[in-house]
Amino acid sequence: MAIIVKDVSFSYARKTHLESKVLDGLSLEIEAGEFLVITGEIGSGKSTLIKHLNGLLKPCSGKVTVDGYNASSFQSRELIGMLFQFPQQQLFGKTVFEDVAFAPSNFGSSGEELCLQVRSSLKSVGLDEKIASRSPFSLSNGHMRLVAIAGILAASPKYIVLDEPFTGLGPKSRNELLKVLAQVHASGTTVVMSTHYPDHVLSVATRLMVMERGKVVFEGTPEAYLSSYTSNIPDITLLMRELRKRGVGVDDRIFTVDAAFEEIMRIKKGQSNT
Ligand SMILES: Nc1ncnc2c1ncn2[C@@H]1O[C@H](COP(=O)(O)OP(=O)(O)OP(=O)(O)O)[C@@H](O)[C@H]1O
Ligand SMILES: [Mg+2]
Repeated sequence: MAIIVKDVSFSYARKTHLESKVLDGLSLEIEAGEFLVITGEIGSGKSTLIKHLNGLLKPCSGKVTVDGYNASSFQSRELIGMLFQFPQQQLFGKTVFEDVAFAPSNFGSSGEELCLQVRSSLKSVGLDEKIASRSPFSLSNGHMRLVAIAGILAASPKYIVLDEPFTGLGPKSRNELLKVLAQVHASGTTVVMSTHYPDHVLSVATRLMVMERGKVVFEGTPEAYLSSYTSNIPDITLLMRELRKRGVGVDDRIFTVDAAFEEIMRIKKGQSNT
């Protein structure tokens, strides 16, 4: 089972003088269980591609299917939870509770069962249940985004797709959100996200894809990404590269602090044995 994008082309303003191809014969397969990060320059077509995954946009040619269902079908939309770049666009409730309860109540949940589901969804994104009585629009950008994610998780989607979820977040909120996404992924949900900051997500991504003018120009593991690209590299990798340049025999393809710590300890141990 997978999300399959097959030979998709798409243009806005079709059949007008403004028509231009934004997706150009793009093919992509997202297997269940992946954490796929989509990156690329401004205007390369990331958001347009993402909007095809839940049928918000339909291909001019080609096909998008989710577990065999057409992406714009009802069955497919039930499988995908979508976070827009600006959470204000998808929050609507008078209270956080109303927002997060929307999906489970649509599925027939009510009373104590519904309260438990809302509490559990808020907890899974690290939010205190006291926030439930507040207006979502009174919250900070980061918390609004977490409420929107709690609302998506409450529907228990198989795939969660997020467009630039780090926009407007400071380093602390970004790290909190990253931890939440890593947990969501570890619990079995497939995660797809677009970002201008691939360096922040290398430690959680299973695969990266780089877009350029509506085409896929790179697909591969975080390690392969690091060997192919010189910009958007994590600070910890830059440090390891600098150490190597200065003659310390460390592996410079490392991109997590834990792996760097282990590598430095390995070198230290080697030195004390000689
Ligand atoms: N509604 C629209 N109508 C016309 N053109 C559009 C529309 N939305 C996007 N475009 C154009 O399509 C191209 C791809 O836009 P898209 O938003 O998919 O890129 P992106 O990679 O998500 O960019 P960013 O990095 O800024 O988020 C751009 O040239 C953009 O100007
Ligand atoms: Mg975009």
